[in-house]
Amino acid sequence: MFEHIHAAPADPILGLNDAYRNEPNPNKINLGVGVYKDEQGVTPILQAVKQAEERLLNQEETKSYLSIEGSPAYREAVQKLLFGEDHQIISKKLAQTAHTPGGTGALRVAAEFIKKHLPEATIWVSNPTWANHQSVFQSVGLEVGSYAYYDANTKALDFEALLASLSQIPEGDVVLFHACCHNPTGIDPTPEQWYQLAKLCSKQGFLPLFDCAYQGFGHGIEEDVQGIRTFLDYVPEMLVANSFSKNFGLYNERVGALTIVCETSEQAEATFTQVQRCIRTNYSNPPSHGAAIVAEILNDKQLRSLWEMELKSMRTRIHEMRSLFVNTLRVKGVTQDFSFISQQQGMFSFSGLTPDQVAQLRNNYGIYIVGSGRISVAGITHENMNPLCDAIAAILKD
Ligand code: LMR
Repeated sequence: MFEHIHAAPADPILGLNDAYRNEPNPNKINLGVGVYKDEQGVTPILQAVKQAEERLLNQEETKSYLSIEGSPAYREAVQKLLFGEDHQIISKKLAQTAHTPGGTGALRVAAEFIKKHLPEATIWVSNPTWANHQSVFQSVGLEVGSYAYYDANTKALDFEALLASLSQIPEGDVVLFHACCHNPTGIDPTPEQWYQLAKLCSKQGFLPLFDCAYQGFGHGIEEDVQGIRTFLDYVPEMLVANSFSKNFGLYNERVGALTIVCETSEQAEATFTQVQRCIRTNYSNPPSHGAAIVAEILNDKQLRSLWEMELKSMRTRIHEMRSLFVNTLRVKGVTQDFSFISQQQGMFSFSGLTPDQVAQLRNNYGIYIVGSGRISVAGITHENMNPLCDAIAAILKD
């Protein structure tokens, strides 16, 4: 029965982790997957999370099922974080949120919802984008197209080309935007550019789907969702898939959400029942623990300010590593200009290294980065900075 089945190719990001585990080089460095590491090279459990878990352990009374869409406290907290406490989207009940297993779960539910209810829609993703986006959408049979985003020569956003691409997208299609800390380039539109994109979206009539996986890792919690909030001023409908893996360090708890915004509260309620159906036929209802932690933190003043402080310190450390990385490459005699790395936002630096150079880093130095040249800056520490930059300097000389 299974003889005709061949092995699938390794996942371009998570597959690297498996290869890294088997890497014999004692000086190996893993800068592949986007996972935050502290100065000790450890992915810490945040203090706010530990304290919330203690409370939950004492308070928890049942392990009975959550509802299909998850707990009300979590769903409300997600909306406030994305849209702002006083936004009319919340007071007018124009949004409905479902707790999903991670941001990927949210994207997958969105994909199924789009395939079922907008079956003619093509979904457009930036070129480049997160290595899993296309596969998630294709797995439900959606057509996936790509729009211009990155200029490899200037190592910056090609905004003219982006506008030109999006101007070709017809009414009724779906366009995926990275809310902040674009993965893999780390390059986001400016507030003025978001405004232009929102106006274009309203003119063209395509549906925006925001992937918001790094809120708080760019400029700040509020600043990082300005793109979403600007769009809300111009478009009546939107989908937002968000993840709390990185900003709460809850990677293995799989906490995310899918939010749908509609023109009226009646429409939001009706549409949401179809989102619930997608969930019921997929994983039935979400796991409780991670979302309970997020809700406990966001709904408690003291825990929330502790979390904000810890998030700020992760963000600051990454910014420091970016500058140090650029300086250390210079000190090691690298003449190419890598200063663009200190302008990029979020966990990743899109280094411009070629696939061949990426292979040399891995084969000759045991340094693992993604094939696109994406380096997880969140995994760079003072300790691994020198060997990393020595290796890059050496391969650039070859
Ligand atoms: C990444 O891009 O490294 C993260 O989003 C982890 C993942 O699932 O790929």
